[in-house]
Amino acid sequence: MARLEFPKGFHWGTATASYQIEGATREDGKGESIWDRFSHTPGRIKNGWTGDRACDSYHRYPEDIALQKEMGLDSYRFSIAWPRIQPNGRGPANQKGLDYYRRLSEDLLAAGIRPFPTLYHWDLPQALEDAGGWPHRDTAARFAEYAELVVRALGDHVKSWMIFNEPNIFTVMGYLIGIHAPGRRDPAAFLRATHVVNLAHGEAFRALRAARSDLTIGTAFNCTACEPASDSPEDAEATERWHRFVNEWFLRPALRGEYPAAHPKGLPLEALGIRDGDFEKMRAPVDFVGVNLYTRTIVQAAPGDGGPLSLGALPIGPVGGSEGPRTDFGWEVWPNALRDILLRITKDYDRPVLEVTENGCSYGDEPDAQGVVRDLRRIEFYRGYLEAVHRAIQAGADVRGYHAWTLLDNFEWAEGFAQRFGLAWVDFDTCARTLKESGRWYGQVARENALEV
Ligand code: FCB
Repeated sequence: MARLEFPKGFHWGTATASYQIEGATREDGKGESIWDRFSHTPGRIKNGWTGDRACDSYHRYPEDIALQKEMGLDSYRFSIAWPRIQPNGRGPANQKGLDYYRRLSEDLLAAGIRPFPTLYHWDLPQALEDAGGWPHRDTAARFAEYAELVVRALGDHVKSWMIFNEPNIFTVMGYLIGIHAPGRRDPAAFLRATHVVNLAHGEAFRALRAARSDLTIGTAFNCTACEPASDSPEDAEATERWHRFVNEWFLRPALRGEYPAAHPKGLPLEALGIRDGDFEKMRAPVDFVGVNLYTRTIVQAAPGDGGPLSLGALPIGPVGGSEGPRTDFGWEVWPNALRDILLRITKDYDRPVLEVTENGCSYGDEPDAQGVVRDLRRIEFYRGYLEAVHRAIQAGADVRGYHAWTLLDNFEWAEGFAQRFGLAWVDFDTCARTLKESGRWYGQVARENALEV
């Protein structure tokens, strides 16, 4: 047995998202979001489930805070639902929406927990989607306005913020593949959406800085460690292009004011809708890079020409390789992926401050006769990935915190309630929460700031 100590002051937390846990989708003046619309569209979500109630955290957030206190955690990543603040995506703030997040963050602070909100975890006001959504340039200005409203109201006591959650996932899933809201399958709209999101990132960043100079600002990027399917030079090149597309399409514009060279035939300037001056506008020199990572990706070269928009690369089984065990979602458990990406970003971007903003696993283990959830595979998952974080820190990565995805079993997007990622079990009939064995174990690691391996 070895004891791995984490740096002094390392943050231990969990991450959640508004639509996945809050419920109360029509309360206190909240407007409709693209996820409200999408989940109520027949055939979109497994079993016709919706997030109408989810974990009812809008009303039960004191229980959520109590669970975190019980575990001894000191950081809570949650997200702010844009349509609670601006029901139609524009205009003055809805005070009741702001009040909810003020109560939540003040109660967190009183419990010794850092409130660590994300401004956008996918619930775009439906009115803005109706006006064109993320492919529409005006959405960037709308987003910056919303971001400023929120930090003007809450930035007196909430000091650490994330702008976006997983810009690659919400543009790919929402506009290219269509299995997430708003459910479009339109390659041209997808490409434009990625550029508008990059512009929105830069504009929101500047709006936040201008509103308050004392904030710590980052974004949570979805990351994966890309590995070639074979030793061939073609697969090696394809793997690098896939890395640039998944891991850097939003990170490089923010930190370097340029797109990564992901397309073998050059950047599709026109398809992206790039105008003069945009590269400067995309810049967002964030104070920290948030890393969300679940597994690795094995990549091979794509056959044929593929046209000007092609990346010339194809992921094999996009949820990992075939050597590690799989979670209930089918994602491969591969802890080295987390070490690898933390070190790659450290090397390529001059050792930025990093936070692990999401990492976790779905296992459906149920309460036994005594009501205890013995989710031992989840404990092994976290042990492996936390050891990988520790190794990255030893090798020079400046990682300041770790957030387990997630506090509660919740509404897992298109999967509805079929995937349980929580450290606490939720009975979706009563919304009662019960800490799982993994939650107790994680709490002990957090309190000791050390991991036994
Ligand atoms: C991430 C999302 C998060 C959750 C996990 C499982 O892509 O950010 O909301 O769904 O996956």
